[in-house]
Amino acid sequence: QNKYHMQKNLKIAHSRRRLPHCIIIGVRKGGTRALLQYLKIHPDVQVAPDEIHFFDSNENYSKGIDWYRRRMPQSFDEQITIEKSPNYFVDWNTPSRVKMMNASIKLLLIVKDPFYRAVSDYVQIRENRLEKDMEMEEFEDLAIDPISGNVRINYKAINRSLYYIHTKRWLKFFPLEQIHIVDGDNLVLRPFEEMEKVETFLGLRHYLSDDHFVFDRKKGFYCIHRENGAHKCLNRTKGRPHPKIDPDVMNQLNDFFEPYNQQFYELVGKTFKWPK
Ligand code: A3P
Repeated sequence: QNKYHMQKNLKIAHSRRRLPHCIIIGVRKGGTRALLQYLKIHPDVQVAPDEIHFFDSNENYSKGIDWYRRRMPQSFDEQITIEKSPNYFVDWNTPSRVKMMNASIKLLLIVKDPFYRAVSDYVQIRENRLEKDMEMEEFEDLAIDPISGNVRINYKAINRSLYYIHTKRWLKFFPLEQIHIVDGDNLVLRPFEEMEKVETFLGLRHYLSDDHFVFDRKKGFYCIHRENGAHKCLNRTKGRPHPKIDPDVMNQLNDFFEPYNQQFYELVGKTFKWPK
């Protein structure tokens, strides 16, 4: 064997499936897929392509940690493994289960303007239902109780935007230093800027640059610039058009989110410019 093949075989021998060093816990529609795909560009990162739903599904969780490990990609000693399951953020069982696996794990949470995130959440559910020929009410009717006129706090698309409540639960199990919060609105506008902070948090060398991203006018979003000159955008389920929401409902929801937003800023020591 020549030196090249010996080194290559040595590398393969060291490649194995490892439990994640970092989990993208959510939030759903925050930009979790974009974050994962951008991390995948980094040579020192391996990502699990599918959402595994290990911690938030009793059925999967009961299959045990080796089942979870087998769902991870192959990685080398020097690489870190990352998985994302956006429902983890709002699931009650997940924080303690993750802690039991690895109390020093790094967590990524990507958040967005809560009103726009709620609409994006609604659009996803609506599309899934329409594909099954099922009816779907208007966002306004789901978000606001027509009799009382109050915001429906338990409507999932609304509830998942109450970042304060869910983050507080995670902070009972993990210190804030272990959770990096990505600004999902900024990831759309300035992906490199957000990814540089993510690299620092994960202790990765700075590899990603502005050159890895190219704005696609047709898509209306940044896409990943490939070495061969082509570029790869996220699929059509990412970056969907949103319906126009009644301005009174939008204002009511923004007022409703406001105290939760303020408490979230205080909790995580970071301010966002919501409403957008
Ligand atoms: P919309 O489809 O409502 O615009 P998730 O991956 O967590 O489901 O988040 C989906 C959201 O990611 C999209 O919501 C979009 O706003 C955001 N996003 C961020 N960067 C993107 C990109 N490069 N291409 C497409 N969508 C992106």
